[in-house]
Amino acid sequence: MEKRRLLVTSALPNANGPIHLGHLMEHIQTDIWVRFQREQGHECIYVCADDAHGTATMLQAQELNITPEELIAQMQEEHQRDFSDFKISHDKYHTTHSEENKTLATLIYNRLLAAEQIQVKSINQLYDPEKKMFLADRFIVGICPRCKASNQYGDNCEACGATYDATDLIDPQSKISGAKPVLKESAHFFFTLSNFTQYLKTWTRSGTLQEQVANKLSEWLDAGLQDWDISRDPPYFGFEIPGTTGKYFYVWLDAPVGYMASFQNYCATNQQIDFDDFWREGSDCEVHHFIGKDIVNFHALFWPAILHVSGFRTPTRIHAHGFVKVGGLKMSKSRGTFIMARNYLEHLDPEYLRYYFAAKMNGGVDDIDINLDDFVQRVNADLVGKVVNIASRCAGFINKQFDGRLSSQADNPLLTECINAGDGIAEHYENCDFNKVVRDIMALADKANQFIDEHKPWVMSKDSARKNEVQQVCSDGLNLFRVIVTYLKPILPSLAEKSEIFLSIAPLSWADRSNSLTEHQINKFQPLMTRIESEKVDAMIEDSIEEPEETDTEQHASEMIDIEDFAKIDLRVVRIVAAEQVEGADKLLRLTLDLGDETRSVFAGIKSAYQPEDLVGRLSVMVANLKPRKMRFGVSEGMVLAAGPGGKDIFLLEPHAGASPGMKVS
Ligand code: MSP
Ligand code: ZN
Repeated sequence: MEKRRLLVTSALPNANGPIHLGHLMEHIQTDIWVRFQREQGHECIYVCADDAHGTATMLQAQELNITPEELIAQMQEEHQRDFSDFKISHDKYHTTHSEENKTLATLIYNRLLAAEQIQVKSINQLYDPEKKMFLADRFIVGICPRCKASNQYGDNCEACGATYDATDLIDPQSKISGAKPVLKESAHFFFTLSNFTQYLKTWTRSGTLQEQVANKLSEWLDAGLQDWDISRDPPYFGFEIPGTTGKYFYVWLDAPVGYMASFQNYCATNQQIDFDDFWREGSDCEVHHFIGKDIVNFHALFWPAILHVSGFRTPTRIHAHGFVKVGGLKMSKSRGTFIMARNYLEHLDPEYLRYYFAAKMNGGVDDIDINLDDFVQRVNADLVGKVVNIASRCAGFINKQFDGRLSSQADNPLLTECINAGDGIAEHYENCDFNKVVRDIMALADKANQFIDEHKPWVMSKDSARKNEVQQVCSDGLNLFRVIVTYLKPILPSLAEKSEIFLSIAPLSWADRSNSLTEHQINKFQPLMTRIESEKVDAMIEDSIEEPEETDTEQHASEMIDIEDFAKIDLRVVRIVAAEQVEGADKLLRLTLDLGDETRSVFAGIKSAYQPEDLVGRLSVMVANLKPRKMRFGVSEGMVLAAGPGGKDIFLLEPHAGASPGMKVS
């Protein structure tokens, strides 16, 4: 087999926030593909970096009262720790705020300039006179010019779907200072992308993109491309454009250059790898970018055009993926489904998620829906119930009855079938169709278990005349397990490593899979993976719940309720007769409420503000006709009303002392 040389990247996570499930999906997808290539014996270098620049980083640092440099250093450390705990095997994780990136971005810009593909144009833009900065669309809110919904962003209306210019908003406001923005003129630098429409029409159809993505881009290409604004005015956290004062590269100009810069840094410490081998025009090394569908235009239009003009090679392939959803819905902080990497790791084994994402990914751009019950069920059934089960069923007999020695033969037809299945599985890996990889591997695991069931070593072992048979069946079982783990290794590197130790073998590789073990000494069996407990998943969700931020007192018309809706709510005066801590809950107290003619048990998220003993005897108000809700700690039969920002400031609603339990509140 010809040895390929590959450079692979995942999109650079923004440095202004933590790693979450969406980033993880992308990095797990990339990492599985990278580990697969390496297991095939190819040279595969995987680089990434934090995307450090831009307005968002600058504002975030201001809010935290630190410098942007401090913020990005802190973030990079956290991001690297998260990824390494998820077994993401980056060869280099760099930052775009680096010397290499500054030098490369400058070089590329100078080449664009020399090729006369940079134009300076004066544009009018909304400006925050208080904060003294130009405002991107997402920093301006106002009333939609079409449907008059309030609180809409500067580019489109979430209520009616209209798209417009920020200057069309009625009553626009700066989201940063609240000031009324004014129009201000400024010179901007443009890359003349419009000159490359024809070039990109060919490039996007040359096998570099998934078909769905190429089709989407055709719509833009047919409409004709606009020139691309690559400069920003201060205050801005970024690189100053060479030859100017007070003009900065737009973050999206130096972000993809960050792929090259990270690789260059890697080359500096790994001298046998030559930067130009990978990046010169006509290079026969491969470059693969893994990205989300939201940033396809930057990677499949701007980036190849810029590389083309500046004399570098363009990517071999761009692998775009969809968005992560949970329970069919967008990830949400208030529902606790906007799950951060760190929070996941506090409760669950990263390999569970690697496996579940793999089982869901087919290399397309459709969104990937996580169903938490299915997650638990699938991981337990497949990994613990099928795969690990093969080893645990066979290891005991080999260890106890044969001193850990495997038999002298390995010519079982099922083993041959399993080894031969590797070519098809490899093809699915290559296509990022991990769903089919998993399906094929689990079919083999089912057959291996059936084989053991049919021969029943636990029955045979009672008959001393069948000793050899027991050894043979269990050795075959362990050899089947070995091949199956070889196939799973890109997805489950820790399981593979533990299995290598248990089987006492060198690191598993694809080419080696047909060399079955005979007369081989294995080690004592150690549990390779344990079942997921669904309580841990519940605890993770509970820890992820964040109270929605209060943004504005005005509400969208669609969120208002009618008086009839309000009348449905049965508000009652109650007396708190008991209040107790709930074991394992950070925020909750269990309250027993007297409604006059009955008592109810409810959970209330007020632990941070009240000692249980201080609550006993107090009056409050509850929603008495709320459907009982099953929570991790028991059933909650209603809800008490409280107000405040949280923490120490949660104020229970208290009726006049003359009120008595059971009274209706209106
Ligand atoms: N900094 C840019 C990328 C620059 S690449 C030269 C950026 N950063 S990001 O942090 O917003 O997103 C990083 C990657 O994560 C993107 O590929 C994005 O599509 C992906 N995801 C972010 N949220 C996601 C989901 N909810 N689901 C799946 N992937 C998503 O864009
Ligand atoms: Zn509207």
